[in-house]
Amino acid sequence: MKGLYGLGQALLQALDPERAHELAVRSLELGLYPRGDQPDDPRLAQTVWGLSFPNPLGMAAGFDKDARMPRPLLAMGLGFVEVGTLTPAPQAGNPAPRIFRSTQDRALINRLGFNNQGYAAALARLASRPPGIVGVNLGAGRDAKDRIADYVSGIERFAGVADYLTINISSPNTPGLRDLHVPDALDALLERVQGARAALTGSGKPASGKPAPPLLVKLAPDIADADLPEIVRIIQARRADGIIVSNTTLARDGVRDPRFAAEAGGLSGRPLFARSTRMLARIYRLNEGKLPLVGVGGIDSGDTALAKIEAGASLLQLYTGLVFEGPSLIGRIKQALVGAMEQESALSLAPLIGRRAEAWAERALP
Ligand SMILES: Cc1cc2nc3c(=O)[nH]c(=O)nc-3n(C[C@H](O)[C@H](O)[C@H](O)COP(=O)(O)O)c2cc1C
Repeated sequence: MKGLYGLGQALLQALDPERAHELAVRSLELGLYPRGDQPDDPRLAQTVWGLSFPNPLGMAAGFDKDARMPRPLLAMGLGFVEVGTLTPAPQAGNPAPRIFRSTQDRALINRLGFNNQGYAAALARLASRPPGIVGVNLGAGRDAKDRIADYVSGIERFAGVADYLTINISSPNTPGLRDLHVPDALDALLERVQGARAALTGSGKPASGKPAPPLLVKLAPDIADADLPEIVRIIQARRADGIIVSNTTLARDGVRDPRFAAEAGGLSGRPLFARSTRMLARIYRLNEGKLPLVGVGGIDSGDTALAKIEAGASLLQLYTGLVFEGPSLIGRIKQALVGAMEQESALSLAPLIGRRAEAWAERALP
């Protein structure tokens, strides 16, 4: 099975990236994927936002935009899955080609532009969602007149089926979306979104009678150092529950292939690692470790996963690393984290979280 899967990986690498993605999705839907063979080591488990994560490694948003396969992704051994980004109405996204791969750089550039089937299709699928932790990532429609209203309707529609909700203001491929990082705009967004969450709880909804799911904000890695404190202050003041650091970057530092680097869109994978980990550490220090952080950007090994934890992440997500390394990466990362805990005689990840935040925060960017 391993060998066969290796061949599958080689084939996927030879295909156009978007076709390769669709093929991977189909195989997952058909059940043709390697199962996470063993139960997770109990030291990998954590309770964050009242949710029991069996391990800290999750699927980042964008892989399963339409909630087609949370079940197989969880069965592969991931600790949680974030579906989306979803917008209220279906969107075709930008013209193809719109995903580019550089094997030399171990990186992708995408300018998909929130292609997705819209809320109704995802809601129908999530009505029979699997057990395990499934977050829903919300965006604003490309032509939305009132972007905030799109996020509010996403909160209202998905509160009953999501374990957590992510406000994604950081895609570089929807013109103007990143303007929501401007302090006044961010404050207005979070005020209305939190109002919607409070109203849900107040009226006894969602149908399950549970309180509204926790709210996360997903940030861009291109925020200037000087702007970060105010952004973090607003997120805290508006009582969001966590921050995802980070989305893809518009920067091209560390990219060697010049033709690849010239493509427009968001860069992910290895060249994003230092930038996103440094920002993660800065945010960890700014909020004094109070708000759980999800570290994402360039995780492609046990070492890079551990570095994110040490920079301040309680939870991790990945996408591009899986494209290049294949699903065996999931087990390797979990093993490396257990190894790191064993070295410290730690019984959980807690003592490792943020222990190198200072060094990461002070690091110069390449
Ligand atoms: C093809 C592709 C599509 C993506 N789509 C989304 C998306 O819809 N919403 C989102 O929040 N992030 C999206 N992302 C960003 C990832 O969730 C993640 O933040 C980023 O890729 C960095 O992680 P990585 O280096 O492990 O890939 C996408 C990334 C890729 C490569």
